Amino acid sequence: MTMLNVAELAELQKRRSEKWSGHAPGVIASTVAEMDFDLAEPIARVLHDAIDRSDLGYAFEVPERLKEAFTGFADRRLGWTVDPERVTLAPEVLAGLIELCLALAPGGSVGFATSAYPPFLQQIPQAGLRTVLIPLRPDGWFDLERLGAELRNGLRVLVLTNPHNPTGRVLPREELEQIAELCASYDAWVLADEIHAPLVLPGATHVPWLEVSDAARAGGISLISASKAFNIAGLKAAQIVTASDRAQDVVRRLPYTAEQAGLLGVLAAEVAFSQCDDWLDAVLRQLDDNRAYLRDNLPDGITWTPPDATYVAWLDCRALGLDEEPSSFFLRRAKIALSPGLDYDPDASGFLRLNFGTGPKLLEEIVSRLRSSLE
Ligand SMILES: Cc1ncc(COP(=O)(O)O)c(C=O)c1O
Repeated sequence: MTMLNVAELAELQKRRSEKWSGHAPGVIASTVAEMDFDLAEPIARVLHDAIDRSDLGYAFEVPERLKEAFTGFADRRLGWTVDPERVTLAPEVLAGLIELCLALAPGGSVGFATSAYPPFLQQIPQAGLRTVLIPLRPDGWFDLERLGAELRNGLRVLVLTNPHNPTGRVLPREELEQIAELCASYDAWVLADEIHAPLVLPGATHVPWLEVSDAARAGGISLISASKAFNIAGLKAAQIVTASDRAQDVVRRLPYTAEQAGLLGVLAAEVAFSQCDDWLDAVLRQLDDNRAYLRDNLPDGITWTPPDATYVAWLDCRALGLDEEPSSFFLRRAKIALSPGLDYDPDASGFLRLNFGTGPKLLEEIVSRLRSSLE
């Protein structure tokens, strides 16, 4: 059985990636979606080998081995039959999404549920597109009525994040079927961001968008990557998947795809998808334990719905009655860096997102500091 290791805090603080960079001494980072676990051994090995060969050039060859590894993973772990001919490499999910939005709605609007992954709020407008926010219902469900109204108003591209970030909710099949039908009736495209799908925790099942229905396949494009689940987001190799000629035709015409992916990302994703199931299972066990620990130990006054997937906890701190924004309060009083709710949603000022992709020792320290800061 694979054992996970998390380095000591002082070692983590030496990391140069976004999560651990730029904090004052003594601060524990619990922000951007990176995990603290040591890399899966096969990934570390393939990266070391590439460096030993000075093999850091362009990702030039058509990555047949990556396609094979990915389709095997999709079948084995997600119950998703993928045609390798319909897998296209992209540097990132985000870059692929923006390219697709530009291709499908030039100068138009793109809808997505809020609270949302912050770059949707920032980068979709920067690409010259209008954002149409579809606030999640108070129970966290997707708002079909609001979607219907926006489709009637002319919306033709929906970015559907499932599992959702920041709530970690996995949308059930019925809800997905309804979204697919509604969008199909207006001939609207659905870009399914399924980057968190490999991180579904015990108790939930992810239904891949292209397995939902004929309507979903006809007007849908899925984007997925090894980056979140295997903690290799800096390496740049994502997959765009289709299940219809019409969708594949859109992807074929994208200007920036395979050539911009990173070779190290391709090599790492190949082994992630084919040789790292044991490591991923160990991660999922730890995340499940962490979720239970948070359920039992979060301070009174912080409420949440435990996520079905991934390693983020979307925390409602409004009942704490703080007189400052919660992430500023906890940074100042607890020396914990958390992601402010406002980054995800203009209406989420009393919320924050906590990243629990770490080992038990650090999670206990995070929770203990949160509790002490409120005493
Ligand atoms: C929903 C969602 N989409 C996309 C991304 C970014 O993926 P990539 O690094 O492949 O652009 C993230 C990262 O956390 C995410 O949560």
